[in-house]
Amino acid sequence: MPRVYIETYGCQMNVSDSELMLGVLRREGYVRTDDPAEADVLLVNTCAVRDHAEQRVLGRMGELKRYKRPGDVLGVVGCMAQRLGPKLLERVPQVDLVIGPDGYRGLPELIARAREGERAAEVAFKDWEHYEDVPAVRDNPISAFVTVQRGCDYRCTFCIVPMTRGPERSRKLADVVGEVRRLVDVGSTEVTLLGQTVNSYHDGEHDFADLLRAVGGLEGIRRLRFTSPYPTDFTPRVLAAMAETPAVCEHVHLPVQSGSSRTLKRMLRRYDRERYLDVVAALRAAVAGLALSTDIIVGFPGETEDEFQETLSLVEAVEYDDAYTFKYSVRDGTPAVRIKDHVPEEIKTERIGRLIAAVRRVARQKNIGLVGTTHEVLVEGPAKRGDLLQARTRTNKIALLDGPAEWIGKYRRVRFTGTTGSTFTAWPVEDFAVPVRPGGEVAWQ
Ligand code: SAH
Ligand code: F3S
Repeated sequence: MPRVYIETYGCQMNVSDSELMLGVLRREGYVRTDDPAEADVLLVNTCAVRDHAEQRVLGRMGELKRYKRPGDVLGVVGCMAQRLGPKLLERVPQVDLVIGPDGYRGLPELIARAREGERAAEVAFKDWEHYEDVPAVRDNPISAFVTVQRGCDYRCTFCIVPMTRGPERSRKLADVVGEVRRLVDVGSTEVTLLGQTVNSYHDGEHDFADLLRAVGGLEGIRRLRFTSPYPTDFTPRVLAAMAETPAVCEHVHLPVQSGSSRTLKRMLRRYDRERYLDVVAALRAAVAGLALSTDIIVGFPGETEDEFQETLSLVEAVEYDDAYTFKYSVRDGTPAVRIKDHVPEEIKTERIGRLIAAVRRVARQKNIGLVGTTHEVLVEGPAKRGDLLQARTRTNKIALLDGPAEWIGKYRRVRFTGTTGSTFTAWPVEDFAVPVRPGGEVAWQ
């Protein structure tokens, strides 16, 4: 059987796309390997959001090409593939195929052509493409990513994604529900719905509120997450669906990008600081105990020290549980390229340092306050270090606990016994509920 090796960079949607690619190739008889040396096809699923992400991939290509034996095929797929297209074939001579996010069903054909010696790029957008007939091959059946919306129609001036993922389109609600039903049948209890502006989901008939209620109402789905929502797309209907669907977890990743209304305007975000804070308040009113995380860019063109200070004060005001922080990276073809007044690299470095310190301080204070509280956790697997297990709360906090490997994939009640400031140590407590699977049998204890 031919073997495929896939390395995935970037966001959760790339993880989900890699699972679809494995699905496309499994139909052709491929099996997955974790060892590039024994692979017949090597794929790198790439991110184009920042230059740094692309440089890393180019570096990695230099290493991966060493595993390429005669007859093997090396492909670059994903957002960087879409952005650079045939230019990637010129730039890296060992690359045989380049495929953008809408072209993955063409993989078998391009692999066959590569074996005939033809190097090709497939970067057409297909606004109908949802890979509806492709059964994803998932690593972890317990917690599954489900893409519900592809592409993006927003035009944040810093962002390359609309150019790499094409126009926004939503899957039919019934198709999503069908997929999640099948996931429940193979043991999934947690689902994360994915889209670039996932709460703007609309399939022509149903909105995101309908989707949350439909998926969250499926028997067997104990945790429902989604990422990433756009702040101004939390309609009253969506807030009500979140509040009334017990499976919806008490965590929202709410990208803010900047705390300054002036910067937000140059970014063409559709809210100002006050509106964003209103959304935070509305979410907290709808969902008790909500944890919030965010994405923040520093050094956007024209960002003054005062504007940056407003980002720092927003972090304090919102009290985020976590934040992903980025230095602005110029992306060719995006509108922000034309904004004058680029912020020097040293200033970006200095600002991101101060921002990370503020984020850590705020998160640490919150987390110290949580020591002693009890939580339901889903045990995900062995911890990266030591022989503890890693588990996750509904609020997306990571807890390490001591327990048998049989707990992996199961829910436990734990008490937080300590914190590093970001993650927790935890101890199992005995009063956890016993979930019942469809049909009535007890699935675990
Ligand atoms: N709609 C997606 C955004 C994808 S990009 C979502 O909400 O998840 C993920 C994050 O990368 C963005 O939220 C932004 O903070 C960051 N980012 C995007 N373009 C960037 C750029 N040019 N420079 C630095 N960071 C960027
Ligand atoms: Fe990018 Fe803004 Fe869409 S960040 S993915 S253009 S919502």
